[in-house]
Amino acid sequence: MFHVKQSGVLLGVDVGTSGLKALLLAPNGRLLGSATVPYPLEVPRPGWAQQDPEMWWKGCVRAIRQLLAKTRLSPARIAGVGLTGQMHGSVFLGRHGEVLTPALLWCDQRTGAECTAITRLVGGEAALLRHTCNKALTGFTAPKVLWVRRHMPQVDRRTHKLLLPKDFVRFRLTGGFATDVADASGTLLFDVRRRRWSAAVLKALKIPAGWMPDALEGSEITGRVSAAGARATGLLEGTPVVAGGGDQAAGAIGCGVISPGVVSASLGTSGVVFAACPLPRHTPDGRLHVFCSSVTGGWHVMGVMLSAAGSLNWFRHSLGGALLPHPLPRGANAYDLICRAADRIPPGAEGLTFLPYLTGERTPYADPHARGVFFGLSLRHTAAHMARAVLEGVAFGMRDSVELVRGMGVRVAEIRLSGGGARNPIWCRIQAAAYGATGVRLTREEGPALGAAMLAGIGTKVFPGYPQAVRICVHERDRFVPAKALMRDYESGHAAYRGLYPTLKKEFEKRRTL
Ligand code: XUL
Repeated sequence: MFHVKQSGVLLGVDVGTSGLKALLLAPNGRLLGSATVPYPLEVPRPGWAQQDPEMWWKGCVRAIRQLLAKTRLSPARIAGVGLTGQMHGSVFLGRHGEVLTPALLWCDQRTGAECTAITRLVGGEAALLRHTCNKALTGFTAPKVLWVRRHMPQVDRRTHKLLLPKDFVRFRLTGGFATDVADASGTLLFDVRRRRWSAAVLKALKIPAGWMPDALEGSEITGRVSAAGARATGLLEGTPVVAGGGDQAAGAIGCGVISPGVVSASLGTSGVVFAACPLPRHTPDGRLHVFCSSVTGGWHVMGVMLSAAGSLNWFRHSLGGALLPHPLPRGANAYDLICRAADRIPPGAEGLTFLPYLTGERTPYADPHARGVFFGLSLRHTAAHMARAVLEGVAFGMRDSVELVRGMGVRVAEIRLSGGGARNPIWCRIQAAAYGATGVRLTREEGPALGAAMLAGIGTKVFPGYPQAVRICVHERDRFVPAKALMRDYESGHAAYRGLYPTLKKEFEKRRTL
C-alpha cells in the first residue's frame, strides 16, 4: 500500500478553445467540483482562428473564483496547481509582459506558405524530422512566428517572449516564463528526442533562443502563485504550480495512458488518436505527430483530425434542426436525439459518406484546403442518414490514425474513448467497430483538466508517482466490444471513404480559399 497525503487538494486548469475549465481533485481521487467560463473564437477570415490571451486570463480568474466559492474550499488546502490547454497557439509578449497581438490558434490554417519556407530553411523534410521528429504543419507554432514576421513586422520587432496558451496563464499566475516538454513539442522548435529547444531550428528560422521559456517535465514545479496572481484569483500566494501539459498529453494522463501499449481516442472539437511509446520513433513520412509525453522521460505518437466532435456540432447547428423537436424540451440533449435518429439508419447510411474535413485536415492528410463533403446523396437520404454519415465519417477519419499507429507495430486491441464524442453510447459503438478494437470508457470525462490536477499531485508528492495517481483517479466505466457484422461493414465503409480524398484532392486545391 502506498501513502497518499490526505490534506492536498489539487487544482487543474484547462485553457480550452471554447472555454476555461478549473476543477478541484481530492487526494482520494474524488472530484470536489468544477467551473467553466466559456469564451468565443474569432474567425476574421475563412481558415483563420484567433483569441485574445487576456480573455484566457480573465476566464481563469473567474473560473477559479467561482470554483472556490462553490466548493467553499479554503485555498490553504490546495497543495498544487496544474495547467493544461489548447496546444500550438502563439502568444507574442512585449518587454513588459504585454500581449502584442491576438494569438493564432492550433486550428488556424493561414500559414501554408510558411510551412514550405520552414522546410526549405531547415534543409528539407528529412532534416526537419531529424531535428524535431515532426514535419511542418499549419497548426504548429513555428509557422505562425514566420507569418507574424512577414505580415506584422512591428509585432516581431517588439517581441520579448513567445508563449503557448496555458503558459501565458502561468505567466499571469506566477510571473514566470515556463512550459512543459509535451506542449513545447508542438511548436516545431523543440528537439523532441533530447527534450530541449532545438538550437539548429531556432537558428535556421532566426528566432532568438531568448524568446523561449524554460521547458520542464510535466510534473516538475515551475514556480509559485505570485502576490498579484493570488490577489486576482483568491489562491494562496506561494502555492506551487507544476509544468502540466498540452491538452492531449495531459488528457492522456487523465485517461491513464501512461505506458506503451495503451491507446486512446478522444473526440473533442478535434479528434486525437494517442499512443504512448518508449522511444521517439517517427513514421518515414512523419504523418503522426511524435511528441514528448507528460510522463517524465516518455514520448507519444498521435494523429490529429481537426473536426471530430466539431463536425457533429456543425451538423447540429446547420442541418440537425430537422431531427429535433421545437422547442427542445427542457433537459433534452440535442446530440443524444441526433444520435438516436442516426441509430435508426443502417450502417453505411445507404451509400452516403461524409468527409469531415470542415477546417482542412492534419492526419492523415496535412491539407489546409481539404473541405467537408457529403458523397453519394440520393432522393432516399434524409437528415437522419446525414447524421449517421457524420458519425461514421468522423470514426473513419480517426480509423486512419489508428491504422498509422498499427503501422508502427503497436497492437491496438483496446482503445480508451474520451471527449464529448464518447458521451453517447451509439457513437461509442460506431467507433469501436470502425477502429476494430474494444472501446473502453472511463468514469471521468474531465480529461485534460483532470490530467493537469494529477500532474500537480505527482509534482507536489500528494501522489507518490504516475502509476499510483492513475490507480487512484482513473476507473473503467463500460466497454464496447464491436459486433463482428458491424466491423465487416465498416471495413468496406472505410475503404470507400479512403478512396474519396485522393480523388478530390486536386478539386480542393483548385477551390482553395486560403
Ligand atoms: C493537438 C491539437 C489540438 C489542440 C486543441 O495537436 O492541435 O488537440 O490542442 O485542443
